[in-house]
Amino acid sequence: MKIFRTTSELIKWRKEGVLGLLGFVPTMGALHEGHASLLRSARKESDVVVLSILVNPTQFGDVSDLENYPKTLEKDLKIAEKEGVDAVFAPTPEDLYGGIPSADNVDWGAITSDFEAEFRPGHFNGVVAVVDKLFTTINSDKAFFGEKDLQQVAVIRRLALLHHNEVEIVSCDLIRDSDELALSSRNIRLSREGRTIALELSKSLKAIFNSSNKVGQIRLETSRIDAIEGLDLDYLAGVNEVTYSKNDDPQSWTHAIIAAEVDGVRLIDNIRL
Ligand code: PAJ
Repeated sequence: MKIFRTTSELIKWRKEGVLGLLGFVPTMGALHEGHASLLRSARKESDVVVLSILVNPTQFGDVSDLENYPKTLEKDLKIAEKEGVDAVFAPTPEDLYGGIPSADNVDWGAITSDFEAEFRPGHFNGVVAVVDKLFTTINSDKAFFGEKDLQQVAVIRRLALLHHNEVEIVSCDLIRDSDELALSSRNIRLSREGRTIALELSKSLKAIFNSSNKVGQIRLETSRIDAIEGLDLDYLAGVNEVTYSKNDDPQSWTHAIIAAEVDGVRLIDNIRL
């Protein structure tokens, strides 16, 4: 497995010629089974697999979230090796951005203004900035993203449509832990009590999935969740995965989505309806 720590090394390798279809999995490291499942899909669907690991500063609004983001490179490399990754690209932000990292404002309507965009201002500007640079550098045939970050998938599909027609975006299933908590690198920051409280997110999504009256059940679950101590709800809603608007008609909903804070850790989850 090759490991490239700079953009120029990666570009040199690409210029030497990669044989076959190139699959790319972008991550911020602290890899878990969710990331591993993307690597497995990439392994299955491509000849050469590239994994990127970079904690991208421009997508963090909160400095302490950035500072506390787990960094486990040694362990990540072992997982990458086990999943048959051919090359790991792990540059510094300054190297990839070619200077001090910054992000332009992105306005693509509801997908970059509603839900996550509303609660994390500037977040998608940073995601678009870094993925745009990664796509340009790696120049893959396919790129794999998890439906755990459902709105991110919508944003990345738009980015590819507008600026990277060469890359096919493949979205992969959301992976849960045995207790149904959606896997996330941030979960290790939850206390034991916090983790129990966090399970209410997937429980509420299941209740909505099982209900024949989605609108009514969302209302019920919102008041139930709002009353839970130690859980700070940002939103619980139905949404269409393409338009991703607060005004999506319930008839067009493809998913129920939820975001909340527990123990100061921001959690997101969703379920296909
Ligand atoms: P990160 O949070 O590390 O996630 C990398 C990829 O793994 C994303 O596509 C994400 O959706 C996927 N993933 C995370 N948890 C998952 C789970 N439980 N099930 C399925 N897939 C899961 O998302 C990012 O990094 C960044 O925004 C990035 C795209 C790398 C840009 O910096």
